Amino acid sequence: MEVVIVPDSATGGELIAEAMAALLRRKPDALLGVSTGSTPLPVYKALAAKVRDFEVDASHARICQLDEYVGLPSGHPEAYRSVVLREVVEPLGLTDASFMGPDGSADDVAAACLDYERALAEAGGVDLQLLGIGTDGHIGFNEPCSSLASRTRIKTLTEQTRQDNARFFKAVEEVPHHVITQGIGTILQARHLVLLATGEAKAHAVALAVEGPLSALVPASALQLHPHATVVVDEAAASSLKLADYFRATYAAKPLWQGL
Ligand code: PGA
Repeated sequence: MEVVIVPDSATGGELIAEAMAALLRRKPDALLGVSTGSTPLPVYKALAAKVRDFEVDASHARICQLDEYVGLPSGHPEAYRSVVLREVVEPLGLTDASFMGPDGSADDVAAACLDYERALAEAGGVDLQLLGIGTDGHIGFNEPCSSLASRTRIKTLTEQTRQDNARFFKAVEEVPHHVITQGIGTILQARHLVLLATGEAKAHAVALAVEGPLSALVPASALQLHPHATVVVDEAAASSLKLADYFRATYAAKPLWQGL
C-alpha cells in the first residue's frame, strides 16, 4: 500500500479530490464510493470546487454509500443517505438518480443487504472507494473481528463507535446499535481504495492497519490485501508510524505522472 503523509486535512482532501477528478476525466461515469463522518468532508469540498471551476465534469458520476444506520426513519438528517445527499450528491450538482445505497429503514434488512450487493455488482463495481478509519480500526462499519471475507450485512456497533458518533446526535442513546455495512470482502472488490485519516485520535489505529499484522481484529489491515490501496494521513494521524520517514521519501520521489 502507498502511504502519503500530508501537512493537514485540507491538503489530503485536495489530493484525493484530484484523484477522483482524474478518474472522472478517464471514466466520466465512474462509480465513486463515499464515506461519512467528519474526515472526508474536505474531499467533498475540494471536489465540488473543481466542478464549479470547470476543472472536471462530474455530471455523469455515480455515487454509492458504504454503510448505513438501521432503524432511523427515512429522511432522518443523520441517516447516511441524507448525509451523502447533502454533502456529496447535491454539491456536485447530481440528483438522487446517480446515487445508490442500502435501505436502512427496510422491514427486511437481510434482503436489503443482498439487494445492495446485487446493485453494486450490476453497476459494474466501485471504481474508487473512499474510506475513513474508526478509532477501533473499523472500515465502513466492519467492527473488530469482522470476517475479512464478509459481504454486505447487518452489524452491531461497538460502544466505542457509538460514543464516537454521539456528536452527530442529541445523546449517545440516540445512536442506533445496528447498521448495514459493505463487508470487507465487498470493499476489497473496489478497484482503488483510498483511506483518509486525520488527527491524533486515529494514530494508533492507522499504525496497526498499516504496519501491524493482517488481522480481523483491525479491519482496516485488510487494505494490505488490496493491490491498489492508498492511505492518506496528516502528521498527527501518522505520528505512530515507524516507517514515516520512508513513506515521506517514497512520496517525495514519486513521478508526478503516477498520480495516486
Ligand atoms: P470520522 O469517522 O471521520 O468521523 O472520524 C471515521 C469512521 O468511523 O470511519
